[in-house]
Amino acid sequence: MSDQVTLTRDGDIAIVTVNNPPVNALGVAVREGLVAAMEEVDSDAAIKAAIIIGDGRTFPAGADIREFGQAPQPPALFEVCSRIEDTTKPVIAAIHGTALGGGLEISLGAHYRIADQKGRIGLPEVLIGVMPGAGGTIRLPRIAGIAAALDIMISGRQVGAKEAADMGVVDRIAEGDLLEAAKAFARELIDEGKGPRKTSERSEGLGTPEENAAAFETARNGIVKKAKGLYAPARMVDSMEFSLSHSLQEASEYERDCFMECLKTPQQKGLVHAFFAERASAKVPENGRADPRPLEKIGVIGGGTMGAGITVAALNAGLRVTMVERDAESIEKGQQNVEKVYDRDIEKGRKTPEQKAAIMARYTPSTSYEDLGDADLIIEAVFENMDVKKEVFGILDKVAKPGAVLASNTSYLNIDEIASATSRPQDVIGLHFFSPANIMKLLEIVIPSNAADDAVATGFALAKAMKKVPVRAGLCDGFIGNRILGKYATSAAYMVEDGASPYQIDKALLEFGYPMGIHAMGDLAGLDIGWANRKNNAAKRANDDRYNGTIADRICEKGWFGQKTGKGWYVYEKGDRRGKPNPEIETIIAEARSSLGITPRDFSDEEIIRRYLAAMINEGAKVLEEGIALKPSDIDVTFLYGYGFPRYRGGPMKYADMYGLENVLADLREFEKEDPKFWKPAQLLVDLVEKGETFDDLNKRAAG
Ligand code: COA
Repeated sequence: MSDQVTLTRDGDIAIVTVNNPPVNALGVAVREGLVAAMEEVDSDAAIKAAIIIGDGRTFPAGADIREFGQAPQPPALFEVCSRIEDTTKPVIAAIHGTALGGGLEISLGAHYRIADQKGRIGLPEVLIGVMPGAGGTIRLPRIAGIAAALDIMISGRQVGAKEAADMGVVDRIAEGDLLEAAKAFARELIDEGKGPRKTSERSEGLGTPEENAAAFETARNGIVKKAKGLYAPARMVDSMEFSLSHSLQEASEYERDCFMECLKTPQQKGLVHAFFAERASAKVPENGRADPRPLEKIGVIGGGTMGAGITVAALNAGLRVTMVERDAESIEKGQQNVEKVYDRDIEKGRKTPEQKAAIMARYTPSTSYEDLGDADLIIEAVFENMDVKKEVFGILDKVAKPGAVLASNTSYLNIDEIASATSRPQDVIGLHFFSPANIMKLLEIVIPSNAADDAVATGFALAKAMKKVPVRAGLCDGFIGNRILGKYATSAAYMVEDGASPYQIDKALLEFGYPMGIHAMGDLAGLDIGWANRKNNAAKRANDDRYNGTIADRICEKGWFGQKTGKGWYVYEKGDRRGKPNPEIETIIAEARSSLGITPRDFSDEEIIRRYLAAMINEGAKVLEEGIALKPSDIDVTFLYGYGFPRYRGGPMKYADMYGLENVLADLREFEKEDPKFWKPAQLLVDLVEKGETFDDLNKRAAG
């Protein structure tokens, strides 16, 4: 066997335990161990049945993703699954935790499946750009049916034990201890003389050939929408269809070929990077140096969209929340904003009124800061203005208990200055939520100069409780996300001035994989926000900076702020959130160009993307150079979770590596000729190109 797989016996039942923490990933030692275990089960006449179970927190949760991209090491996972299926004695998979990907395929290789009540199954390969490669497309539809199997694979969703049992994938749900229930199951099989039952030879989930053909056709027709630009889903359908008319051996080979094709795509590299980047973002030095402070009761100041969103996120994390607003009317509105979210959940059948009531029991409205005296952490989400924020922090300094973490949700302001309004700057951090704060997963945790390690660690603990993806950011105007956004938004504004249409830019971004273009995004967020920023920053603007707001200012001057006014770059009919190009924009643009003395030129979609990305990556490199972000993957995570960057491209810095840093630099050098200040390449980028290094090398160095 191997260190990672052991075989023990309970009478005539073999218990094969996988032990490869933390998630029992099916690395080479586990695969070898499982094969050896099945050999022993077959060769030992005293063994009458076998159970495969995972030690620790889960049944194997998939192939070892870190092995992707390395030379394949035998035995391949599909051989292991077939070896399990070929075992001459009944094999039961006993599932707890998450039987995902290769883990589910192992269990489908087994002849019977039992799960504990919290057990979950799934084929999430699509989320990392691949597809099942060890019999998943062959075995699952035979029991669950084509439509259900494709749904599981294409969505990558996890299916609970009960639903899995209803689908016929799980034979039994264990009421009590899983291993004991699995042994009882094995005993029954032995006593009843039931032998192996090969999943690959079952067919109860399948329909007639005509029905199957129709199911595949429906899947193919729906795939463009469901696959969201991913390559793997179409190959899953191909593989599943092929398997119905070929031998297991042929189908396995075909599935393997499809899997290998997926493995070679840039999408797979982008998605795997995103998977590990997300997990690396919570690994920050402060977490290693200090434990978080206690976190049970939260104060939220402000009941507007942001304050209410943060309140919902905190309530959903099981915390108690006191929301403070300045007067009775505002707090009433704040509470309504919170309740609205739960009322919609009730309407959609996601919550019952009783569940809402139980959650709201942890909510306290107040118009007095004094009520925050027992809060462990207080988040300020008031108007974005330094004087207002300083006043709030001055009050918090007086009312908050010693050791309470005081957080500002500012998106741009200098938190050192905010902290200076208190006598305890060590307790002050930035928690930059993204709207709607109860939905958006990104949380920028901003570290002012004097923040104590345990205050920072508490911010990360809050993110974990709220199931958010935290990113550590240093202090600068706009932190990581908004600072970089400022640059690529400016590149887009210049392109419109120079001749591109805003709709062409949005279309190019959609084709790149964004869910929405930057102009549509501006309309959604409100064009007045950028307008106010430009006015605030007018004094700071250097004389040799090219102005980026000529066109947007003119739109705002007309009172068009986007969706909320029904008009912006697009016009929105009642109830239409997508909008159509605003016909009057063309005139505004033409007038602006002529006032600037610009003769418009054509831009190809390819050039639009090159400029947009070069601006983004270059500013990303500057953010790294200044230590605002600790590692490139943190910038990737910021843009994947806060700014709609297509996940299958891995994030801007991963994209840069794949595009080639020397190519990014060449683009910048080309654009630099027309505006040397805006396009000046970051020194870090120049250095990396000189040394032949990538951003990923910096990620590896950061991981130590
Ligand atoms: N291969 C290699 N490492 C894996 C892994 C896999 N399939 N799945 C998880 N890990 C690692 C994570 O990188 C993390 O490592 P770290 O502690 O060094 O950061 C650790 O295992 C724990 O994972 P994490 O995601 O933090 O734990 P969780 O309890 O929140 O979630 C899972 C557990 C299994 C649900 C989640 O890790 C997951 O979805 N894994 C991928 C499953 C998958 O895609 N399987 C199909 C592969 S073909």
